[in-house]
Amino acid sequence: MSISLQSPSNIALIKYWGKKGRQEPQNASISFTLSQSVTQMELDFLPKENNQKIELDFLFAGERKEKFAAKIERYLASVANELPFLYDYKLFIRSQNSFPHSAGIASSASSMSALSTCLVEMAEEIGFEDYPYTTQAQNCSYFARLASGSACRSVYKGAAIWGKTSYWADSSNEYAVDFSAAMHSVFHTYCDTVLLLSAQEKSVSSTAGHSLMENNPFAPARYAQAEENMGLILSALKAGDVDKVGEIAEEEALTLHGLMMLSRPAFILLSPHSLKVIELVKNWRKDTGLPLYFTIDAGPNIHLLYPHYIYNEVQDFIQTELKNYCQNGQFINDKVGG
Ligand code: DP6
Repeated sequence: MSISLQSPSNIALIKYWGKKGRQEPQNASISFTLSQSVTQMELDFLPKENNQKIELDFLFAGERKEKFAAKIERYLASVANELPFLYDYKLFIRSQNSFPHSAGIASSASSMSALSTCLVEMAEEIGFEDYPYTTQAQNCSYFARLASGSACRSVYKGAAIWGKTSYWADSSNEYAVDFSAAMHSVFHTYCDTVLLLSAQEKSVSSTAGHSLMENNPFAPARYAQAEENMGLILSALKAGDVDKVGEIAEEEALTLHGLMMLSRPAFILLSPHSLKVIELVKNWRKDTGLPLYFTIDAGPNIHLLYPHYIYNEVQDFIQTELKNYCQNGQFINDKVGG
């Protein structure tokens, strides 16, 4: 039997940084789901003898990648109690991304949401019904979260909230929930252009970064700030306030990097080009009065966030100025979707 699907990456506006227990977030986060940056995955499964072992054959972009395969195998073993049929089949997984490695686009979000959705589809195909939650989206999101926290937000189109917040009634630490139905139309066509400033491997993985929050003396203040920002951004997303959303997104990005600089050991993931681009974006916004803002994940690349009605102006700005700071002039035009 075979399942084939694709799942998108997402870009967080309120950042998840710091976790507890079994991959639960220390604060609620919200992200836009992307449309172009996707993982395509095929899962084939063949019955085998149940020997309480996971058997996996994994290819990424047609090649064996031992590190990825080992990570997926560990993950499958970790959820086999809840999905015991995983011991009854040999799994063949073929995966590839539509975007380059180290592009500053979260490949774990697209790949792990693709994987969890494949598993939930597989469960349905073989008649397994013992799910933890009632809806398919909740189950996909729950199993994605256990693989990589940010991946649980990718199972919804438009935008998703993950983590308990007093500002959203059905929010949960266990799985993400849909936010797009409440979102103003301007954000349904919002643009995210990722400037590829450096293709270098990250010097700290997200997982290691999260654990550094445990001893960060600023952590309690950060979690309180995230909750406050969540209240503000949800109102702005509903009202279509592009400037407020942009201001909060920038504050969150700089806070994330500030927290890394304040960790022990400290990490500086921004490059001189990141700082230059931030300066240029701020100046351009001031000069033109147009709502172009940025966000950044745990790396040097800059995501430009802007409404579709200024697409042409922003593309001109990229061509004439920002492109000079991109590695080999590379950038990716993506947008909210899913
Ligand atoms: C900076 O979801 O990659 O992108 O749960 O350990 O897999 P793990 O971490 P991950 O962390 C993402 C951190 C972030 C912010 C965000 O997407 O919210």
